[in-house]
Parts: sequence; structure tokens; C-alpha cells
Amino acid sequence: MRFDVLTIFPELFASPLQEGILRRALAAGKIAVDLHNIRDYAVDKHRMTDDRPFGGGEGMVMKPEPLAGCLAAVQGDEPGRVVLLTPRGRTYNQQEVARLAGYPRLVLICGRYEGVDERFTRVWVDEQISIGDYILTGGELAAMVLIDSITRLLPGVLGCSQSAENDTFSHGLLKHPQYTRPREFAGIAVPDELLSGNHEEIARYRFIESVRLTLKHRPELLRRVSFAVDEYMLLEQAGLLEAVKRLKKGKENNVQGAA
Ligand code: ADE
Repeated sequence: MRFDVLTIFPELFASPLQEGILRRALAAGKIAVDLHNIRDYAVDKHRMTDDRPFGGGEGMVMKPEPLAGCLAAVQGDEPGRVVLLTPRGRTYNQQEVARLAGYPRLVLICGRYEGVDERFTRVWVDEQISIGDYILTGGELAAMVLIDSITRLLPGVLGCSQSAENDTFSHGLLKHPQYTRPREFAGIAVPDELLSGNHEEIARYRFIESVRLTLKHRPELLRRVSFAVDEYMLLEQAGLLEAVKRLKKGKENNVQGAA
């Protein structure tokens, strides 16, 4: 996967790319990240990348010419998908991560100030993405979130191939709770099931605890999960079936907060 990032603050990306899995993915050639300074494509002698909004109002707007010039220089024979990071975009989630991981090349545009001149967005941007309903000082951290989350899904990036498969959200449930040594800590023992060495028992325990956690913290996620018959039986044994059924019924009747 190749990422091209258009930003006025390329230095912001240095340290996240120098550590851990991203550093290894770069070194192994699983990803390439090319940073492009929009300011290098400014068209006036002061190298301005922003200007006051027509119609008045607060803040500054990113000028279209430096953005268009930078993008034209970056897109070559095999142009990438152009993604603008902006709070007005579609909300990012794990499904979106998987979808974007399917592109060979992404061009991430980091907006700043009050926004980007609408003409640039209309003509050159393929899609707009927001990483959540809050306002950042710019798109750089959001772009970093995309690079990080997409990279860990690419083949051969995570050490254990299972890790991404069992992620929270990948089956629509939160991930089960995890324990490591010591066996007892703060007066709390590791659950017997996890010490049993019995893989089926461990899988059953983890499934039930995933559902329990999801019911507690993100019940709305459960509405979209389909369970197999044997999973429904496990839910019944664990006394969770009624709560799950209530939630699913809530979906049909559009009732909130059924859990
Ligand atoms: N730029 C500012 N806020 C943002 C957000 N929430 N997501 C993506 N880009 C942004």
C-alpha cells in the first residue's frame, strides 16, 4: 500500500512512523508513506496556503491552487484514491478500514483552518472521511489514524495472522477480556476456563464474555450481529439470551436502550 500525504505539517508524521508496527511495515516494504508539503506549491511570493473566506466570517480557508498543484505533482500514471480528512466526511469505522485497505494507493489530504476551498473538494476529492464527531486542529492526526489502522490489516504486517481476525469489531462484537501472568493480581484470579487448556472451553468462554462486554459497553453493536444456532444455545446457557433478544427486537421496533 502506498500512502501519499498532502499537508502543511509533514514533520507531524515523523515519530508515529518511526515506532513499532508502522516502522516495521515501512522497513519491510509493506507500506510506503510519501509526505508532500502543500506549501511547496504555493503560488504567491509569501507562500500562502490559506486566505480569508469570501462572505466574511472567522478563520482562514485553505487556498485551492497550492492543493491542486501539489496533487497534480503527486498523482502520476497510477493515481491514488483521493481522501480528504474533514469533520464533514463519512464516519470512519473498522468496515471503512477494510474497504480502504483494498486500494493500492491512497492520497490523504489534510485540511487545516476553517476548511478547504469547496472547488478543490468538488473537482479533485474522491471521498471525505471523518474520524469522529469532534474537531481536530487539522487532518494530520486523522490521516495518521487511517495509515495506522489500514496498515495493520495488510497481509504480513501483524506478526500473528490471527490478531486482526479476532479484533474488536471484526465480528461486530467487542473483543473478549484478556489476562496474562500473574495468575492472581489485586485479589482477582484469572478465570478457570482460560487455564483449562481446553480450546473449545476457552473459545466458548471468550464468545460469552465478548457478548457480555458488548451488551455492557456497546449494546447498539449487537443489533447488527447474526448468531449461529449453537451460539444462541451458548447465550441461553450463560443467561444472556433474553438481553440479546430484547436488543434485536428493539431494532425491529426501533426501541432504544433495550439492554
Ligand atoms: N479535521 C478536523 N477534525 C477532523 C475529524 N474529526 N476527522 C477528520 N479530519 C478532521
